[in-house]
Amino acid sequence: VRAVSPAAFATQCDRQSSYDVVLGKPLDDPIGLLAEAIAGRPALIVTTPTVDRQYGQALRDWIAASGVNATVEVVRLGEANKTMETVLQVATAAKRRRLGRRDPLIAFGGGICCDVVTLAATLVRRGSPYICMPTTLLAQIDAGIGLKGGVNFDGCKNFLGCFAPPSNVFIDMDWLRTLPSVEVRSGTAEIIKMALILDAELFEVVTGGWQRLLRTRYTDAEGVGRRVVARSIELMLEELQDNWYEDRSLQRLADFGHTFSARLEELSGYRLRHGLAVAVDMALSTVIASILGMLTHDECEHILAGLELVGLPTFVPWCTAGEMFPAARASARNRGGDLNLVLPTGIGRATFLHHLEDLPLTLLEQAVDRLQRRASERPCAPPRTVVAEPAPLDGITTPASVRSAA
Ligand SMILES: NC(=O)c1ccc[n+]([C@@H]2O[C@H](COP(=O)([O-])OP(=O)(O)OC[C@H]3O[C@@H](n4cnc5c(N)ncnc54)[C@H](O)[C@@H]3O)[C@@H](O)[C@H]2O)c1
Repeated sequence: VRAVSPAAFATQCDRQSSYDVVLGKPLDDPIGLLAEAIAGRPALIVTTPTVDRQYGQALRDWIAASGVNATVEVVRLGEANKTMETVLQVATAAKRRRLGRRDPLIAFGGGICCDVVTLAATLVRRGSPYICMPTTLLAQIDAGIGLKGGVNFDGCKNFLGCFAPPSNVFIDMDWLRTLPSVEVRSGTAEIIKMALILDAELFEVVTGGWQRLLRTRYTDAEGVGRRVVARSIELMLEELQDNWYEDRSLQRLADFGHTFSARLEELSGYRLRHGLAVAVDMALSTVIASILGMLTHDECEHILAGLELVGLPTFVPWCTAGEMFPAARASARNRGGDLNLVLPTGIGRATFLHHLEDLPLTLLEQAVDRLQRRASERPCAPPRTVVAEPAPLDGITTPASVRSAA
């Protein structure tokens, strides 16, 4: 503590932390890294009904074999109830379980489970340790490996949230084997996002090997899927590394596909999967870049064709200029007032459109119109089922209406 004056004291409150993201088979080894991470403490493992159905037995067998003092709490989670209520449900379970200050919460599920448990962990006893075991492709390469948690609030996606690093992340790619195809596509959208901003070769590997990646759920015998996932994790961590808390800059390449997408999700009543909304946002941003002359026509077509090839939508009916214009303003409020729209300048390269004035309504109208015409000319691609597949909400009903973003 430094006395700045007799009546003022300056103190430093930095916190250093690091954690490992490990690809392996945590539930196959009763004395392995997962048991080490729990380190004899009581633990609360939060999972969802779908994951519990698929992997609950393996989890309970592991608990029994390892002798770890862990309780499993099954919570119904979907985008429509990614809310404070479910965070409080987790907190209630932690209290009931008598978790102490150093006892870990463990998220065993998709990105929503990771988001909710992360936020709950920051609140329980003012900050408890937590471990992520992400089970969807999207969570294994994005939502479950970073340090952000959050919930939707008052019609606004991720309005309440936190930055809190996990103590460990354990990933078993075999958990992907049971993913519905729409979830594989949704996760692939986030992989394509990283590829388009940073790694042209990754884009070609994913689009070129798509059929096999989809069929094997990224677990092909040749290890292509594993290399894609490992590379995506590496790219994501590298990208976040210098700006973990988003306090150094609010210009983030990883925000590619995340300017209009939250509004698309809200407008769909959360029926549109996160990655699919990101795909439409990427398509819109790509066409904007093309109109602005930052991207050649061929590059633009290559990106759109790549998205369509993996069955991702490049347009959805909720994507209107009238809705996307205020959506850009809502995103700017999250970025200190600047637009910071990420635009590809090639495959594997990107830049920012900094100011809201740089994105006039007429430009958005032109871009939306181009995507809409393109979609109507290609009635077969992408498959319509991508959006219409039964909403994976674990039985939760979609709210009848959604209000506009903050
Ligand atoms: N915190 C972050 O940094 C961050 C980053 C990106 C996305 N997100 C958030 O992540 C969420 C999306 O995550 P998601 O796509 O994983 O959604 P999700 O958690 O809803 O999972 C998708 C569906 O897959 C099911 N599922 C999970 N694992 C399964 C498995 N192994 N086999 C079969 N089914 C399985 C789930 O029950 C669910 O129905 C969004 O809310 C998004 O905002 C957060």
